[in-house]
Amino acid sequence: MSLLIKNGEIVTADSHYKSDIYVEDQTITRIGKNLEAPPNAEVVDAEGKYVFPGFIDPHVHIYLPFMGTVTKDTHETGSKAGLVGGTTTFIEMMVPNKNDDLLEGFELWTGKAKNNAASDYTFHMGVPYFNEKTESQLKEIIQQGIASFKIFLAYKGVFGVDDEELYNTLTFAKKHGIITTAHCENETLVSELRKLLMSQGKTGPEYHEPSRPAWVEAAGVKHFTSFLETTGAEGYIVHLSSEQALNEALRAKNRGVKVSIETLIQYLLLDSNHAELPNFEGSKYVMSPPLRIKSNQKILWNGLERGLIDTVATDHAPFDFKGQKDMGKGDFTKIPNGIPGIEDRVNLLYTYGVKRGNLNLNQMVSLLSTKQAQLFDMFPRKGTIQPGSDADLVVYDPNYRGKISAKTQTMNVDYSAFEGMEIEGKPSLVTVRGKVSVRDGEFVGDKGWGQLVKREPSHF
Ligand code: URP
Ligand code: ZN
Ligand code: ZN
Repeated sequence: MSLLIKNGEIVTADSHYKSDIYVEDQTITRIGKNLEAPPNAEVVDAEGKYVFPGFIDPHVHIYLPFMGTVTKDTHETGSKAGLVGGTTTFIEMMVPNKNDDLLEGFELWTGKAKNNAASDYTFHMGVPYFNEKTESQLKEIIQQGIASFKIFLAYKGVFGVDDEELYNTLTFAKKHGIITTAHCENETLVSELRKLLMSQGKTGPEYHEPSRPAWVEAAGVKHFTSFLETTGAEGYIVHLSSEQALNEALRAKNRGVKVSIETLIQYLLLDSNHAELPNFEGSKYVMSPPLRIKSNQKILWNGLERGLIDTVATDHAPFDFKGQKDMGKGDFTKIPNGIPGIEDRVNLLYTYGVKRGNLNLNQMVSLLSTKQAQLFDMFPRKGTIQPGSDADLVVYDPNYRGKISAKTQTMNVDYSAFEGMEIEGKPSLVTVRGKVSVRDGEFVGDKGWGQLVKREPSHF
């Protein structure tokens, strides 16, 4: 299998130049002008198009049993949707709950992905408790190629950890060079506020945000970063949504705490008004942390532009409006939290980031691919375009014009949170380790082509 991509504008996190790329088997072997290919090679003309390194979504839920239901995508449908949108590797949260065995959880999630995912993938290993078996089980999981953990400060009783568990997890992580990702919200405040609002008859989706306001998120960030500071472990704050939480994270960074920050494409483009839509439509926008008031968006864009925020993810968690979100009619605490997005992240950041002048192309590549590859121990195999890297490539058409719609999306869910939004660019061809998986914008890959990206811890 060999492939020559000619005349494209190659964009990485730190370069932008016109050149050809030659791919042999699964790897980029040559980059240069006027490259020649053997007669049996496929030749793609990328004149007028960008060629980006395959994008990496560092935070998705493909299989998530949660709040009495399960996310709608399978590893086949979720990875196809990601590929159509230019995501060639996703990092899924593997989230066994308090009653589950960690190794069994590991087998369950890896078993679901294997032979089904069309793109590459890896996992953040959820650690919902820390008991006498945990150390040996986590060592075994690290041996299998997992180099990052996930802990929840929220969702106590399901996934959430107490302080002793948090301390033990981070101490273990530091010793083994693991980076720990964290959902930061103070659970006690959430649960008290929920009870208060419900007792006042405030039961609709618009009360989800007031039940977990920005200072509750900031309190979680402060808590997590204090534990990082004490243990010396390295951390990563997932789905940061607000100015208050950002300020708290930056305060920690400024005093030397090793912590990186992820925001989500929806926090940059949607706001708390969406959760107020009539006819229970607001439930489509219920996620945690919640969509914030619009003034936060400018702060987050600025944080991206100035390099204060490291990555943009989706937290893809697809629940149907009919049959799943509506479980919470009359009680917002029962609306399954999460929105779909794996298909839309790249086109939205290109359109509303690059085209609207909020970011340049190099920053976009860093935020959507390179930084996650570096933080999560996949660089330079993933996250860049250079000889020796996996041939994960996105030939991107900046002349495409279209609108996002649930009617045309690949994600297996009955609505789009970005319905009707204009996009001004789209992947035309996408390769995963050299295999053309999207052609002319359509999925042409193979279920099962995706591999677990095995990683070695480096965060000692
Ligand atoms: O609302 C969300 N974010 N749902 C998915 C689970 C999580 O907290 O990331
Ligand atoms: Zn979360
Ligand atoms: Zn999540």
